[in-house]
Amino acid sequence: MSDGETAHGGVLQRLALRALHCLEPERAHDLALWSLQHGLFPAVEQVRDERLRTSCCGLRFANPLGMAAGFDKDARVAPALWNMGFGFVEVGTLTPRPQPGNARPRLFRLREDEAIINRFGFNNAGQAAVRGQLQRWHAMIGRGVLGVNVGANKDSADRIADYAAGALALADVADYLAVNISSPNTPGLRDLQGPRALEKLLAAVGRALAEAGREQCPVLVKIAPDIDEAELAEIIEVAISGGATGLIVSNTTIARPETLRSPQRGEAGGLSGRPLFEPSTRLLAQAHVLAKGRLRLIGVGGVHDAKTAWEKIRAGADLVQLLSAFVYHGPALIPRILRGLLLELERAGHASIGEAVGSGAHDWLEK
Ligand SMILES: Cc1cc2nc3c(=O)[nH]c(=O)nc-3n(C[C@H](O)[C@H](O)[C@H](O)COP(=O)(O)O)c2cc1C
Repeated sequence: MSDGETAHGGVLQRLALRALHCLEPERAHDLALWSLQHGLFPAVEQVRDERLRTSCCGLRFANPLGMAAGFDKDARVAPALWNMGFGFVEVGTLTPRPQPGNARPRLFRLREDEAIINRFGFNNAGQAAVRGQLQRWHAMIGRGVLGVNVGANKDSADRIADYAAGALALADVADYLAVNISSPNTPGLRDLQGPRALEKLLAAVGRALAEAGREQCPVLVKIAPDIDEAELAEIIEVAISGGATGLIVSNTTIARPETLRSPQRGEAGGLSGRPLFEPSTRLLAQAHVLAKGRLRLIGVGGVHDAKTAWEKIRAGADLVQLLSAFVYHGPALIPRILRGLLLELERAGHASIGEAVGSGAHDWLEK
């Protein structure tokens, strides 16, 4: 029995995971979502502790661990994920109009590497379809923090206008807005990371927030790991001058490390999971050093245990997200990470997560 599981619940969880992994990956994902939506999820030990509480972007979090965008694209299961112990959930990516995404198969498990390749291409129900659901959640008492991730339609004539439309449509039902300009699965989308385009995009989002009466809504820019330090430095300066609150570091990578062993490693798309941990954490540490406290940072990429979550925080993350490891380890992972973070805090002699943020950034840069 591993930590985070009761004897009975642990066996059931492992059986359920094994059964899901016998299915074609996207069917398994759909079934997992359906089960969560219908309350069919295992009881998970709740880890609540004052020392895990944290504030970021003017929001209060019960703990710093969140579900990354892409698991709950159409905002179906955030309450189930909060109930499992996540401090926050980011839904989306949502585009103004619904779109089917790329042809199947488009989701691949790289089991030997504990990784995933996806080329979904923003399949989603569209912003209007989920607004009512988000409204209901927003009004819930005692809920966790809700992030809404927005993007552009593949066939859009004006992609920047799509981000503004997302802000206008959804900012009043979001605790924070994530601007996803780094999916590798919408051709050309990453060009929006260029300084001129990003400047325009943030200005357009700012105007939309003002129009929606939500100027104070935190905006976080989600970036790709496949950029160099000079590009990162430019993004940081433009993000700050454009009024962004922070960065989400990072999305999936188009790189294919030599170490990959899985036969699926040649599939096109974005790679996530364990092999993304090192490059995304190094980029995070660079962002921490370059931003000098002017931006809040969410660290995501390859987190799969307390140690890797703690390293994200040491590298500079105010908050941490994961997705791929949830697919491989299931809900028991959440209490395991939270309990492990408490141990790390004790070991380091810190009274709160905030005290540890960035404490190891220079170690990461020297690696
Ligand atoms: C199946 C899948 C779908 C994803 N969809 C999105 C998405 O719609 N929007 C987005 O910003 N990121 C998306 N991501 C990227 C994740 O949010 C995250 O940045 C990335 O997977 C790295 O975290 P991980 O290694 O913990 O999975 C997706 C990732 C996966 C595996």
